[in-house]
Amino acid sequence: AGRCVVAVDGPSGSGKSTVSRRLATSVGARYLDTGAMYRAITWAVLRSGVDLTDAEAVAKVAGEVDLRLGTDPAGYGVTADGVSVEAEIRGPEVTAAVSAVAAVPAVRALLVARQREMIANAGRIVVEGRDIGAVVAPDADLKVYLTASAAARATRRSAEDASDVAATAADLARRDRLDSTRKADPLAQAPDAVELDTTELGIDEVVARLRELLADRG
Ligand code: C5P
Repeated sequence: AGRCVVAVDGPSGSGKSTVSRRLATSVGARYLDTGAMYRAITWAVLRSGVDLTDAEAVAKVAGEVDLRLGTDPAGYGVTADGVSVEAEIRGPEVTAAVSAVAAVPAVRALLVARQREMIANAGRIVVEGRDIGAVVAPDADLKVYLTASAAARATRRSAEDASDVAATAADLARRDRLDSTRKADPLAQAPDAVELDTTELGIDEVVARLRELLADRG
């Protein structure tokens, strides 16, 4: 009962998605994957064929696509213009292009507004992304910033998708650099966020720690 917003931010491969879903399930909350929203918009931009460096054209596509996703941690679906894009948004083309699309201020303004609306409608929700504690939900009840060593992040990600560790490490480093240096809402730890280094921790340990932090906050 009541409103409760947990913001989970951190770089790619820090364990955000697994941990956020598990936490939401274990406390009976909704779950919002904001990265999936940026990925779905990126899929629509790639499909449209517009130049990724043309911010105005990218923003126009973003404004026109009918993006839908749910907030059930057990499965939230993602559709763009009625087409399920759940598999496509995890593919290499979208992953390579998403940071460029997410750097366009008009795209962020659009998605941040959508995210705030979804959060307001949910009541209890775990929200994961890059700018949740700092921009999307500055009033969150608990803000967590997950980190892990670059090696641990690359190893985890390549175990998930059977990709080459070195190539994955290079991709993560590239996305982190783009995400932290962009002008609009860069990846950043909110001053009031609890930092948790997950390098040496298992998923269950991280979820248990977050449940403790949540209980401490009432
Ligand atoms: O979390 P995930 O890896 O799916 O996010 C994909 C990309 O979406 C990130 O690399 C980042 O460029 C962008 N993103 C963002 N802000 C968020 C969530 C994701 O800019 N809140």
